[in-house]
Amino acid sequence: MNILYRPVKIGSLELPGNLFLAPVAGYTDRAFRSICTDYGADFSFTELASAEALTRGGKATFALIRRGETEKRYAIQLFGHDPQIMYRAAVALSPFHPDAVDLNAGCPVPKVVKTGAGSALMKDPSLVCRIVEELVRASREVLGNAPVTVKMRSGWDAEHLNYAECARIAYEAGAAMVSLHPRTRTVASVIYWDNRRFAHNTMVRQQSTNDGRTKTTCGRRSAGKWAIV
Ligand SMILES: Cc1cc2nc3c(=O)[nH]c(=O)nc-3n(C[C@H](O)[C@H](O)[C@H](O)COP(=O)(O)O)c2cc1C
Repeated sequence: MNILYRPVKIGSLELPGNLFLAPVAGYTDRAFRSICTDYGADFSFTELASAEALTRGGKATFALIRRGETEKRYAIQLFGHDPQIMYRAAVALSPFHPDAVDLNAGCPVPKVVKTGAGSALMKDPSLVCRIVEELVRASREVLGNAPVTVKMRSGWDAEHLNYAECARIAYEAGAAMVSLHPRTRTVASVIYWDNRRFAHNTMVRQQSTNDGRTKTTCGRRSAGKWAIV
């Protein structure tokens, strides 16, 4: 086996390989995701879907997030800023049976950012925490505990490179995976990514609680049974 290609676990979700199709608005629709699955993608993400539109029953948005014909495992990506609306949107995903729900904390587009969603969430890590908690709650209630994941940027701008803090907070709130788009919202041309800092700050420990849930706590590598998920 190629040493770069290996099985991967995202919370309870077991994937045969780590070849993921990233969310790309305007491109990763059902047909494109199916083609990528046919050519070997192990996991794919829908493009960002508006949580607000889903709660209003927006037909176009529902069409966007349906599983592709040959798509085996996929995540539906949501954007929004209101934890309660995010909860209701995640509940509305139930008929689609997504294998994961991904929070968009990276979109730089003005019409998204000005509502406080997308990469604007990076300005308020406590809001990331509350949204992830609500998504995890919805997943536990109606999505069969599908893992909740977060896609984020390095930070809002070069003065606020808070991806490690946001990742830690997301994990503490119950996220099973964080993907990093290592650019800021304001400087798209520079990559901000310190591998050691990210890994060091996102060590997490997962423990089963008495009621069968998984409790995730964060800490430092020296503490023992830690893993990066
Ligand atoms: C046209 C376009 C649309 C994108 N749409 C999304 C999206 O809907 N959700 C998301 O999380 N990332 C989105 N991304 C980001 C990509 O998933 C990916 O992280 C990024 O393109 C990789 O970095 P780079 O293009 O800056 O090199 C988009 C990127 C592009 C170029």
